[in-house]
Amino acid sequence: MTTTSPELPTAPGKRSLSLYILGTQSDLHSERGVECPGDLPPASDPGLVERARRAKEALGSRVFVLGHHYQRDEVIQFADVTGDSFKLAKDAAARPDAEYIVFCGVHFMAESADILTAPEQKVILPDLAAGCSMADMARLAQVEDAWDTLADAGIADVTVPVTYMNSSADIKAFCGRNGGVVCTSSNAQAVLEWAFRRGQKVLFLPDQHLGRNTAVLQLGLGLDDCVVYDPRRPGGGVSPEQLRAATMILWKGHCSVHGRFTPEAVDEVRGRIPGVQVMVHPECQHEVVLKADQIGSTEFIIRTIEQAPAGSSWAIGTELNLVKRLAANHPDKQISFLEQHVCYCATMNRIDLPHLVWALESLVAGEVVNQITVDAETERYAKEALQRMLDLPGETSRD
Ligand code: 13P
Ligand code: SF4
Repeated sequence: MTTTSPELPTAPGKRSLSLYILGTQSDLHSERGVECPGDLPPASDPGLVERARRAKEALGSRVFVLGHHYQRDEVIQFADVTGDSFKLAKDAAARPDAEYIVFCGVHFMAESADILTAPEQKVILPDLAAGCSMADMARLAQVEDAWDTLADAGIADVTVPVTYMNSSADIKAFCGRNGGVVCTSSNAQAVLEWAFRRGQKVLFLPDQHLGRNTAVLQLGLGLDDCVVYDPRRPGGGVSPEQLRAATMILWKGHCSVHGRFTPEAVDEVRGRIPGVQVMVHPECQHEVVLKADQIGSTEFIIRTIEQAPAGSSWAIGTELNLVKRLAANHPDKQISFLEQHVCYCATMNRIDLPHLVWALESLVAGEVVNQITVDAETERYAKEALQRMLDLPGETSRD
C-alpha cells in the first residue's frame, strides 16, 4: 500500500481502476502495444535541457537522480547513475546524504528505493502514470486468494512465495510475511535454489516467463513441473491435484514489452543477418529464449555487448531505448532490435524531459511533487523479503 500510486481516483467503496495502457491484464494476446518499427518518440523541446541543467545545479548534492536503462536519452543525460532496477535501489541506499531521490523509472522501482532509503529521504517519480503493467498483474487480494487456494490444496506450508523485483511493495511484503523472498533477473537462479532449500514448491510472482525460464533452463526442472495459476479464473484455473503435482506454480503475468518478442523474429533475423547472435531478456517467452544464443538481465546484456569483439553482429530482444543506446555507443558492432512489431516500454517512456523539469523545478521552489511513500507496515515486511535476497552469498557485489 502506498500513499501515492499511479491509479486513477475512485469513489469510496469502489474497486480501484488501474491504468492499463497496454493489454488487458495477464492475457498476452490482448497486448496491442504500438507499432513503432524501430522508432522512439521525438525528443522534447531542447529548450528544456537548459532548464533541467539549471534546476539540477541549483539543487546540487541535495538531489540524486537515478535513471533506469530503459529511459529516454533526454532523461538519462541527467541521471547521476544508471542501472537496472536492483542496482538503482542499491545506489539509492548508498546515498543517505541526498535529501531527494528523483527516480527516472517506474513506480515499483521508486517504491523499492523508498523502502531501502532512510525515512527522511524523499523519493520522487516525475510522472505517476509511469507504472508497470506486469506489476499490476499481481494484486494483493488476488495473491491472498491464491494462497488460500494453496492452503485448501494442503500445500501452502510447503510453498515458498518468490516475487520478482517488478512487483508492488505490498506483494513484496506478502512474500516477507510468508517466509518468501524477492529476486531479480540477474539472481533468479540463486534465489530459487534458496527457496527450494526451504520448501518443496515455489509460487512465482508475477512474471511466468522469468519463473519458467529459470526453473527449466537453470534449475533443470521440466516444463511439466510447472503449472500456470490464472488469478482471473476460479481456483486459478487449475485443480488441487495439478497444484499438488507441480513444483513451480507460475503466476499468469508477463511483461508487455518482452512478452511480445516471437520465435519467428529470431528465425527472420538469422535469415537476414549472417552470423548474428541473438540475445534476449529472460522475461521473453520460453519459445523465444530457447532459440536465443544468450539470455540475460539488462546488466548482463550491456556487459556482453561491451565485451563483444568489434565487427560482431547482435539482435537484441529487450527495451528499445536501451538497444538504440547500445547501438549508438558501439558503432564498431552491428546491433539491431530483434522484432519490428515490439515497441519501447510505454510506461517507462512516460518520464520525459517536461516531467523531469517540473519535478526538479518544484524542488528548487521548495515543493515536493509526486512523492512515493510506502507505509511502515508494508515497508517492514517488504524489507524482510528484500533482505533475504541481499543476504545471499555474493549478492551485495552483484550488479
Ligand atoms: P531489470 O531492470 O531488472 O533488468 O528488469 C527489466 C525490466 O523490465 C524493468 O522494468
Ligand atoms: Fe514493466 Fe516490462 Fe515496462 Fe519493465 S519493460 S516496466 S517489466 S512493462
